[in-house]
Amino acid sequence: MNLNLDSDLARRMAAPGEVEAALADAKAEYRRLAALGSEDKDWPVTGWFHCAEAAQQLDLIKEKAAEIRENADVFVLVGVGGSNQAARAMIEAIQKPGGPEIVYAGNTLSAHGVAQVLQKIEGKSVYINVIAKNFETLEPGSHYRVLRAAMAKRYSKEEMAKRVVLTGTVGSRLEEIAKENGCTFLHFPRRVGGRYSAFTPVALLALAVAGLDVDEYLAGGLAMEEELAKNEGGIAAEYAAVRYALYRRGFQVEMLTAFEPRLYWAEQWWKQLFGESEGKDKKGMLPASMIDSEDLHSMGQYMQDGLRFMTETFLAVDDPGASVVIEPDPDFGDAFDYLDGMDFANINRAAEKATIHAHAAGGVPCTVLRLPRIDERTFGLVYYFFMVACALSGRLLGVDPFDQEGVEEYKRSMFAALGKPGAKGR
Ligand code: PA5
Repeated sequence: MNLNLDSDLARRMAAPGEVEAALADAKAEYRRLAALGSEDKDWPVTGWFHCAEAAQQLDLIKEKAAEIRENADVFVLVGVGGSNQAARAMIEAIQKPGGPEIVYAGNTLSAHGVAQVLQKIEGKSVYINVIAKNFETLEPGSHYRVLRAAMAKRYSKEEMAKRVVLTGTVGSRLEEIAKENGCTFLHFPRRVGGRYSAFTPVALLALAVAGLDVDEYLAGGLAMEEELAKNEGGIAAEYAAVRYALYRRGFQVEMLTAFEPRLYWAEQWWKQLFGESEGKDKKGMLPASMIDSEDLHSMGQYMQDGLRFMTETFLAVDDPGASVVIEPDPDFGDAFDYLDGMDFANINRAAEKATIHAHAAGGVPCTVLRLPRIDERTFGLVYYFFMVACALSGRLLGVDPFDQEGVEEYKRSMFAALGKPGAKGR
């Protein structure tokens, strides 16, 4: 089963004819992307468009992951932004039992945060994967140093070579370091930007270490690729067109809402994808997120009754993944007897339906993206869907969805503040 997009409630709030016009443009852009040749200016940044090309070194990844699962108590994933989000979102959502504890590093400069990572590896058998496209980013670079020092106190050079996996572009300093130290080197494809790297070795090693089925995942990506190709971008073009038509009508925020707390990191991934791809030239919808029920009791008030400038996209999941029935407790007198015999799976579904209804009635354009279940294949579908939708949406907006000058600007200014040789900040 594939994804289902229901944008009826949202379309009604766009200006007449806007969705159709945007859809025609989104489809034209999809056709352009699908036909790109090596001479095109977008060629160097669209290596993600074909899942099979993005997914390199699969055998090596599986072999190394099996070794890590066998030997490690802790696996540290060192990366920031596009270099860790896709894997983290899946690992946290699917939660396969067994294997080493996965620790995320390289994504903070908090001394407390770094100290916690060091504490987690203390006395444990540790493997690390350092991921950095050009190996200049401060957070992963500095964490690699600290982790390397901690590991070198316990492991010989040969043992370190086994326990450190480096992921970077071919020809980068990270590749040289891998060669100098005899570490496994995985490819960060040059034609893929961090936030579009979900199907590349950037994410695949961590997924395999966490015991996730990478073949099923890639099959999901491929299935969505084929599905979209059948209809000039299909539901991805539709999603991009509806949100652009609403943006033109003054809707400036898109809230991604899920009733599954396990999808918290998937929402973080989505925010990075759309925020970094579209927030440019003083344009773009602000991507925000909610996890309900928790956020219904805080942001829910604003969604229902605050300023009318946001749209809402619900990530609805058909298969609840568990069943917990509420047993009757007739003599207790807690006034919750109306729930007797009900399953939380159905209660949550009812709450989701009621929320969509209430927010739509309150003037929020609501779209529902329906997922069959939370598993590897579904993540393949979802990631590919959103990456294509984001590329199309950015072009409708008139921005380059593949660069991130704003992020580079902050990096430059931080380098200057820290005295990096040659750095010029403002
Ligand atoms: O999507 C992007 O390109 C960015 O978010 C990068 O992934 C992030 O800045 C990390 O970059 P790097 O892998 O070069 O350290």
